[in-house]
Formats: sequence, structure tokens, C-alpha cells
Amino acid sequence: MSNQANERKAAKLWGGRFSEPTDAFVEAFTASINFDQRLFREDIRGSIAHARMLGRVGVITQEEAAQIVDGLSAIEVEIEQGDFVWSVAREDVHMNIEARLIEKIGDVGKKLHTGRSRNDQIATDVRLYLRGAVDAMISEIDRLSFGLLDLAEAEADTVMPGFTHLQVAQPVSFGHHLLAWQQMLARDRERLLDARKRINIMPLGSAALAGTSYPLDREWVAQELGFDGVTQNSLDGVSDRDFLIEFLSAASLIMMHLSRMSEELVLWTSAQFDFIDLPDRFCTGSSIMPQKKNPDVPELVRGKTGRVYGSLFNLLTLMKSQPLAYNKDNQEDKEPVFDAVDTVLGSLRAFADMIPAIKPKRENMYAAAKTGFSTATDLADYLVRRGVPFRDAHDIVGRAVRIAQDKGVDLADLALTELQALSDQIAEDVFTVLTVEGSMAARDIIGGTAPDQVRYQVKQARKALGGRG
Ligand code: ARG
Repeated sequence: MSNQANERKAAKLWGGRFSEPTDAFVEAFTASINFDQRLFREDIRGSIAHARMLGRVGVITQEEAAQIVDGLSAIEVEIEQGDFVWSVAREDVHMNIEARLIEKIGDVGKKLHTGRSRNDQIATDVRLYLRGAVDAMISEIDRLSFGLLDLAEAEADTVMPGFTHLQVAQPVSFGHHLLAWQQMLARDRERLLDARKRINIMPLGSAALAGTSYPLDREWVAQELGFDGVTQNSLDGVSDRDFLIEFLSAASLIMMHLSRMSEELVLWTSAQFDFIDLPDRFCTGSSIMPQKKNPDVPELVRGKTGRVYGSLFNLLTLMKSQPLAYNKDNQEDKEPVFDAVDTVLGSLRAFADMIPAIKPKRENMYAAAKTGFSTATDLADYLVRRGVPFRDAHDIVGRAVRIAQDKGVDLADLALTELQALSDQIAEDVFTVLTVEGSMAARDIIGGTAPDQVRYQVKQARKALGGRG
């Protein structure tokens, strides 16, 4: 054996039964240290709780437990300070840290892994990590939600065109539109909280797959680590990654929602819509066209949606048909999840920063709301209130629209006599319903676009988020 090969064999904590060192390429191919080192805090936290418990139940002495805990804490500091050298030969985060522990505190360090396997260790690390990521996402969602609520309240009276088929449909409050976004996020938040219940269950104590013969106190460790409970089947505990898939589904829905908001922001900042201005700090220019100011942040968020959907399909496929219990396949779960977490957190952060900076161009929205005969339904409703059956009213208004269209004017610009020629039920007061403000204020029903409803919904949503009403 060459010197290098010998060193590689010596680095392995499982080398005993092997007669030759791992092939150098295979070693690099199977190693996960380049990405799972990101789990060092969770790994050390889990190991500290495990060691303390081993000391409490008498599997090791309290003195040994204390030495292990001190050693692990010192290693955490080394890593935080950038003094730790990660080794591919040591394969993954677990063995890098364990080997370093043995280097530091000697033979006592070899007792840490008692009653434990990397299989239940990694499953625990990932759950701890994901719990933290979910909590971070929820606080970004809250920051974004409060921003939307503040803007919605300020813009409750701002009229914009509401669209169906991207054609002007009816006037709505800009605040109402923003509240629709906030509702999407409120459900995203619920989904994360729901997924968190199943994430926050501890597999440690499942050992490799069958549980362990040591009298481990799993409940104590779970409490120490802030888990809500322990997994009830060791084979399941080490193997299933359904909690990651659930998380990625929730993450995909968040991105789907952010992509819809992004698309609207991109449209609204275009010269054709010109509904809002995004401050320069959220935009970039073109290297060739000096006049350009591009809405890069929403465009990027829209584009990044694909990465998160990709992670979801990655893990669904990774998990499909895997026999019980742990398989090395599961090492492939980390990179897609890390990428999804970074992408969603970054996108939420960008949105939370950007939303309060939106400058609405109220006159442009107002002018656009007046196009497309957006109050036609209000005229029909007016006729219905005067006893005209809805189908007849629909027809009368259709004819009014045609006249206005031919003349190139809005419904509210037609003369009373022109309208009365279509129906004798039309009186002077018709013009109050033909204005966009009148149309909006009339929809004073739960969930409707009347500014008073918008203000009411803002208060309700703030209360639901635990904020000021
Ligand atoms: N690096 C592995 C993973 O990410 C840790 C568990 C390895 N277990 C094993 N028996 N090889 O899943």
C-alpha cells in the first residue's frame, strides 16, 4: 500500500474489516462533507445531548460525558472560527467531527457513538436544521405580510383595474389586490407550521435500523433538543424523508405565489402598464440600452421558482421505491433541500425589503380602471335594482357599451338621454354607479373590494399574525 492509501485507510472510522483502502475516486464520489458540513451546529448539538444522556443513564460515566461535551463545544468554536480542516477522507460531517473529538480528548471520544448510528444521527441533524429553516421562513413571511398590510391600508382608496383574462374587468382597490397576495402567504405560513409538526419528531435512538440494546432515554434527548416527540418505529425513523418532501411542497407553493406576484410587478413596472415605480436599488440597467431600468428582483424570483420545484421532484424521485430502511440514496437529499431553503429565504427576504418601497402611480391606475367599460356590471346591477331581469339588463348594458365604444368614450360619458333611450328605468342617479369609485365602494361585502372592507381585512389579518389590529 502506498503511503497515501494507508493514510486514507487510517482516516476511516469503519476501516476494520477492509483489506484495502477505498479507491481515491470512490472516496470523493461517496463523500458528502463538501455539503453536509453545513449541518455542523445541528450535529454537535445532537451529539452533546446524546453524550449527556449516555452519562445520565450510566452507559458512560458523568465524567466521560462532561469531557465529550467540552470537546464538542471546543470543536464548534474551531469550526465557527474557520480553524477546522474538513477532510474528504473522513467522508461526512459526522465522522469529521467524531475523528477530531478523538484527536482532541483521546479514547473517551470513542465512546460518543455508543448506541447510535450515522443513520439516526443524520436523520436527526436534518430535522433540526429544517426546523430552524422553517422558523426563519415564517419570520420572513411575517415581515413581508406586515409590509403588504401596511401598504394595503395606505392604498385602500386607490382605484386600479381588476383583471380577468388580463382584460380590464372591474375596478378594485389596490389595497384589495395586495390583500389577495397576503392571503396566499397566510396559507403558505399555515402549511409551513403544519409541516413543522411532523418535522419536529426525533429519530435518534433508532440507531442503524432496529433500535439499540442500550437503555437510552430518548424522551430526555428529545426534550433537550426541543423536539415535540420521538419516532415510534426505528426502520421508519432512519429511512423516510417524507417530511422533506412535505416541506418542499410548501416551499414550492411559496415560490409559485411569489412568482405570481413577481409577474404582476414586472407588468406593472412596464411602460405599457406604468402602475408602480420600484426604487432603483431593486433594479438594474442594461449594458447596451442606456434608458433601461429592469425589474431584476421580481424577474429573478420568478425564475428561481424552477429550482424549488426541481428540488421537490428530485426528492419525490429519490424516495420512490426505496426499500426499508436507510439507503445511501438518502445522502442525496441534502443539496436540493439546502438549495430550496436558500432560494425561498432569499426570495422572501427580497420581497419583504421591496414591497414597502413600492411607489404606486395612482393617476395611472385610476385612468386604466376607467378604460374597458369596467363599470358595465354596475349599470346592469342598477337596472336589476329597478326591477329589470338580469338577462335583460345584461343586454341593455351590452348595447350601451357598443354605443360608447363607437363614440370612443366611457359609459359615464354618455348623455342621460342616450342611456334612457335604452331603458326607461335609467334616471339621473345612474352616474353615481358608473364611476369607478362608486363601483368599488358598492362591493361592501365580506371579502369585497370596498375600501372599508379592505381596512377591516387589514385589521383582521394583523390580529391573525399577532400584531397590532
Ligand atoms: N452521509 C450520510 C447521509 O447523508 C450519513 C449517513 C450514512 N450512513 C451510512 N450507513 N453510510 O445520509
